[in-house]
Amino acid sequence: MPAAAAIARYLEGLREPEDEALRAARARAEEADLAPMGPEVGAALRWFARLIGARQMVEVGSGGGASGLWLLGGADPRATLTSIEPDPEVRQLALRAYADAGVADRVRSIEGTATTVLPRLADGGYDLILLDADPAEYPDLREHVVRMLRPGGLLLVDDPLAGGRVADEASEDPAVLGLRRFHAELAEEPSLRPHVAPGSTALLAAVREPGRASEHPTARASGAR
Ligand SMILES: C[S@@+](CC[C@H](N)C(=O)[O-])C[C@H]1O[C@@H](n2cnc3c(N)ncnc32)[C@H](O)[C@@H]1O
Repeated sequence: MPAAAAIARYLEGLREPEDEALRAARARAEEADLAPMGPEVGAALRWFARLIGARQMVEVGSGGGASGLWLLGGADPRATLTSIEPDPEVRQLALRAYADAGVADRVRSIEGTATTVLPRLADGGYDLILLDADPAEYPDLREHVVRMLRPGGLLLVDDPLAGGRVADEASEDPAVLGLRRFHAELAEEPSLRPHVAPGSTALLAAVREPGRASEHPTARASGAR
């Protein structure tokens, strides 16, 4: 069995790469010590946004803007993103990333914490909500997520197991405690169907891009449709 690092490298070669705006946003966020969204999870966000043809999205925790760019890259071309960030300096980094990528007019950036901003957002108005902020606060966000998502809408949570630490019963870390409570509440929440994939190598799924013909060499040679 090849080592995890070899598998990760192999998958890297298959994945949709970061473009220049994303690379720059991630580099600036790393410099500011912000734990930016990397391409592995970013590509998954993009895939989910594409899968559901997301139009209205919310993210909690803009950081340096990387996750927003991944989401907008997969969503419907008319899609908009409401992005929430409490730190004014970090928010400026995100605004720069949206401007660099030419998507500033599709982002409503709001300065504030999730618990103060989410209550102001519309009922049933959103196709996709991403949580990538302070997990200690997530249990307080559940009722808003349920209220805000349209039927069929998608909740995505970055790092939902805190790197596996949720399974460590001795951990008293506030993020771990918040996530444990959040998972327990989601399991009891009749209007949400959560699933955590057990490993990043466990799932392959592909969406057919609407309106785009195959450019695969075999399809061209045979004239196959
Ligand atoms: C891991 S970073 C987000 C990374 C970002 N999504 C990206 O793609 O680079 C977490 C962010 O959540 C923000 N944050 C912390 N507490 C928050 C809260 N209560 N509500 C909203 N955002 C919060 C932090 O300031 C930080 O920018």
